[in-house]
Amino acid sequence: MRVLGIETSCDETGVAIYDRQQGLLSNQLYSQVKLHADYGGVVPELASRDHVRKTVPLIQEALAEAGLQASDIHGIAYTAGPGLVGALMVGATIGRALAYAWGIPAIGVHHMEGHLLAPMLEANPPAFPFVALLVSGSHTQLIAVTGIGEYQLLGESVDDAAGEAFDKTAKLLGLSYPGGPMLERLAQQGVPGRYKFPRPMTDCPGLEFSFSGLKTSVANTVVYTDANNYQTRADVARAFEEAVVETLMIKCRRALDLTGFQRLVMAGGVSANQLLRTSMDEMIRQRGGEAFYARPEFCTDNGAMTAYVGMVRLQVGTQASLAVTVRPRWPLEELLALDA
Ligand code: KG4
Ligand code: ZN
Repeated sequence: MRVLGIETSCDETGVAIYDRQQGLLSNQLYSQVKLHADYGGVVPELASRDHVRKTVPLIQEALAEAGLQASDIHGIAYTAGPGLVGALMVGATIGRALAYAWGIPAIGVHHMEGHLLAPMLEANPPAFPFVALLVSGSHTQLIAVTGIGEYQLLGESVDDAAGEAFDKTAKLLGLSYPGGPMLERLAQQGVPGRYKFPRPMTDCPGLEFSFSGLKTSVANTVVYTDANNYQTRADVARAFEEAVVETLMIKCRRALDLTGFQRLVMAGGVSANQLLRTSMDEMIRQRGGEAFYARPEFCTDNGAMTAYVGMVRLQVGTQASLAVTVRPRWPLEELLALDA
């Protein structure tokens, strides 16, 4: 089975083709970063319009890259949620309509299931069960995963997501959108230990996160320091990154203790962060467990993960009706388990 995947939930248009036997055959990505940079964040209406402009050309490029024609595709997967409603509607409408025209099944994919299963695209995929840490621009969740569609939420952020905290803190430090990767680059020049920020909610038991107070700590520090000084900003960025990384590690350790699982999967945009990856590797190594991440380009939004999830779910016969349906809010636990 060969599936065309379309991702348009936010500000990247991603199109990919995944073949059950041969793996990933093509992967096309168009980022809208420049379009939104002037506004300091994603402008939903502009995002939708740009998806309208780019989705069909990217589908043509994905087919050309794989040396395939429409008749070689057996199913179409599109991101149906969670995400920006207008942006989702573009990918869903194009995907659903194309599948109808080509006489093949279509399926609406959960964006966070895409992130969660993105490490399956790598040469050494994780086996079940595992603890998943989903860290994106809109989600910070710990999930006990016992199979595809078997997701038990262990804890999540009560306010800002980790990626959101990176983006807002980056703005405070005068960096442009998207803040996460920019802040990481600045933090690499920072002196560790010059500033120290709180590790929110680590003193109390449980697996909830809270990142909005951390951003306020940074804001207060910026006010009282020489924020025009490059080194000072780098040191603050480094301290912020360390606070987020250590907080995530403490909660992951707790989740592994609670479940008794040995494997940790980290996914979503923030999992591209190098300090987070190396720190998590070290923590897992010390416990004698195993850590799994997607390559950085598959940590952030992409069509490959959508095509993969589509393949997994279409091959057991699940498919969308002819109606174009999207769900801007869609709890991961509502997904059906896959009886493979
Ligand atoms: O998963 P993603 O591409 O989109 C969502 O589904 O939200 O995640 C985007 C988020 C943004 O907040 C971005 O700043 C953050 O991931 N991010 C990073 C890094 N790369 C992306 N945060 C920290 N370090 C990075 N290298
Ligand atoms: Zn995402």
